[in-house]
Amino acid sequence: MKGIIFTEFLAMIENEVGLIELEAGIEEANLPNGGAYTAVGTYDHHELFSLIMVFSKRLNMPPNELVRRFGKAAFGRFAELYGNFFSHANNAFDMLISIESYIHPEVRKLYPDAQVPHFKSTLIDHNTLELIYESPRAMHDLADGLIEGCFEHYKESFTMKKELLTEQGNQVKYIITK
Ligand code: HEM
Repeated sequence: MKGIIFTEFLAMIENEVGLIELEAGIEEANLPNGGAYTAVGTYDHHELFSLIMVFSKRLNMPPNELVRRFGKAAFGRFAELYGNFFSHANNAFDMLISIESYIHPEVRKLYPDAQVPHFKSTLIDHNTLELIYESPRAMHDLADGLIEGCFEHYKESFTMKKELLTEQGNQVKYIITK
């Protein structure tokens, strides 16, 4: 997993709990590199899961809720950091449809070792989008938050139904209505 995900996650946590608590949590997570990440480095995604478990306990917040919140914040940060990836899409549906065909391929041009999920999108009607998430890393809670952040970014309202297509959560169906 690319270091940018780690650095953004830790920045969000530091914002919430401050530097001292952040460092105590990193120590508790007992990570191989002592929790030092660079945005362009690549790390085992299980290290992120360890950090999520530690800070979920410390913040007294269920892990899926913490990850969803992170996804929402991360979308806003991506919009700041990778502004040129955003010029093609004028609304949330355009953005969501283009993750697979444009956004994540651009991410992989920038970071050839990035491991991104797959999204199959089908416009059911003008107001309804079906999105199928697929990833062996089963990070659909992150996808929930990113989708939320996407609608917030475009100042649009939406409702979403989510269905796990497999028990492990590596295939998830979203029905999104605007
Ligand atoms: C609503 C839009 C988006 C959704 C739902 C989405 C979803 C995800 C998810 C769930 C992951 C975690 C990996 C996995 O599940 O296998 C991921 C990874 C990633 N995404 Fe996206 N994404 C979106 C938009 C973006 C944008 C706009 C950018 C940046 C311009 C971006 C950059 C990345 C990067 C850098 C990774 C990490 C790759 C790695 O760790 O190797 N994504 N995305």
